Amino acid sequence: MSDTEIRALVAHDAGIAGGWVADQMPAGCGIVVAGIVGDLTPTPEEVLQSDADVLVVACAQEPEAALALVHWWAVNRPARPVVVLCHASPNGFVGRAFSAGADDLMVVEPGGEASTEASRELVFALQKAVARRSTPEENGAGLGAMICVLGPKGGIGKTLTSCNLGISLVEMGKSVVLVDLDLQFGDLALSLGLTPHGTVYDLATAGGSLDAGKIDAYLAAHSSGMRVLMAPTRPDQAGAITIDFLREVYAVLRGAYDYVIVDTPPGFTPEVIASIDASSHICMVGMLDALSLKNTKLGLETLELMGYDSQRVRLVLNRADSSVGITHNDVLAILGRPPDVFVPSHRDITRSVNEGTPIVSSHKRSEAAKAFRALATSYASEGTGAAGKPTKRSLLARSGA
Ligand SMILES: Nc1ncnc2c1ncn2[C@@H]1O[C@H](COP(=O)(O)OP(=O)(O)O)[C@@H](O)[C@H]1O
Ligand SMILES: [Mg+2]
Repeated sequence: MSDTEIRALVAHDAGIAGGWVADQMPAGCGIVVAGIVGDLTPTPEEVLQSDADVLVVACAQEPEAALALVHWWAVNRPARPVVVLCHASPNGFVGRAFSAGADDLMVVEPGGEASTEASRELVFALQKAVARRSTPEENGAGLGAMICVLGPKGGIGKTLTSCNLGISLVEMGKSVVLVDLDLQFGDLALSLGLTPHGTVYDLATAGGSLDAGKIDAYLAAHSSGMRVLMAPTRPDQAGAITIDFLREVYAVLRGAYDYVIVDTPPGFTPEVIASIDASSHICMVGMLDALSLKNTKLGLETLELMGYDSQRVRLVLNRADSSVGITHNDVLAILGRPPDVFVPSHRDITRSVNEGTPIVSSHKRSEAAKAFRALATSYASEGTGAAGKPTKRSLLARSGA
């Protein structure tokens, strides 16, 4: 790839003019049209031979052929993105396009003059797609780490861990953004004593394309310096947050922060699976009781089935000092691995949550604060970047989301 220009190959069906697509990329915009192929199926020779940096699949009439071509490119040109243009998105097409391997999808106005705005959006989409597809190993610039905080049940300490881990990383000099993915009953804002602010729902419904500057306007600022993308204020707003939107948000945030920490609702919902798929690390939170441990074990097994690298999974045992007749040896036997961090039960934790001041700030010397700082150190010692699973797309595709 040239340092300055991106070479795009355009493949289109009969319902959308290749010339029109090329016109959207005027000279000097940073994208050069390397070829125009007026056919989507079977995989055209020009596509088979192409070494373009990005494939643009423009489709108005043949969605199945477009999806097949997207899939072919994603499998055979894994380092090069593919962006889909369509006039309308037939039912389920967007999700299927992303599952097939599309990096981005734009709905464009049929025909007419090439508009400046559409042109700008397309050029930006292609630049973003190429920039994102360059893996951290390739571009060296390094995306921030993304830690998904998981736990099989409610009330076991996921939100507690997310807040305290985030602040501990900030205190180590890292830039951190917390995302409240508990879209129906998120309480991250309350746990941090944050005042009402724009939420992820406001961001999702604002329209237009996403970039760091735009997302920034919707982030609340915690006194520690940490930023927070709050959950919707009402459960019925959760439906506006799509998986495709979340993927975009994560990609932009990872480009802008050292750490993106995602506080999740219980279980492996499609949103949680998408977040795991986009993450570089996992923090699994469990509690010291037999039911919780059984579910934590199931959670760890699910990650394994997803092909998640176990080296990138940290295990936090919360309320680890409770005298409930389960020893640490029992824990090891049930989970098959020792917890990395033990967080004791303490009434100061409950108070810290009620007061909206996480324990690492309010009781810096407490055992719990030390445990969360140790957790932060273990992530920081590993650096950021690299994904925790073999391929970027396999999980979502498998989930059917
Ligand atoms: N180690 C602990 N010591 C005392 N209270 C705790 C501890 N861990 C969690 N809690 C309490 O349990 C409640 C639920 O924790 P939370 O982090 O919100 O769970 P989750 O996010 O998994 O639903 C918190 O309000 C907190 O008061
Ligand atoms: Mg929670």
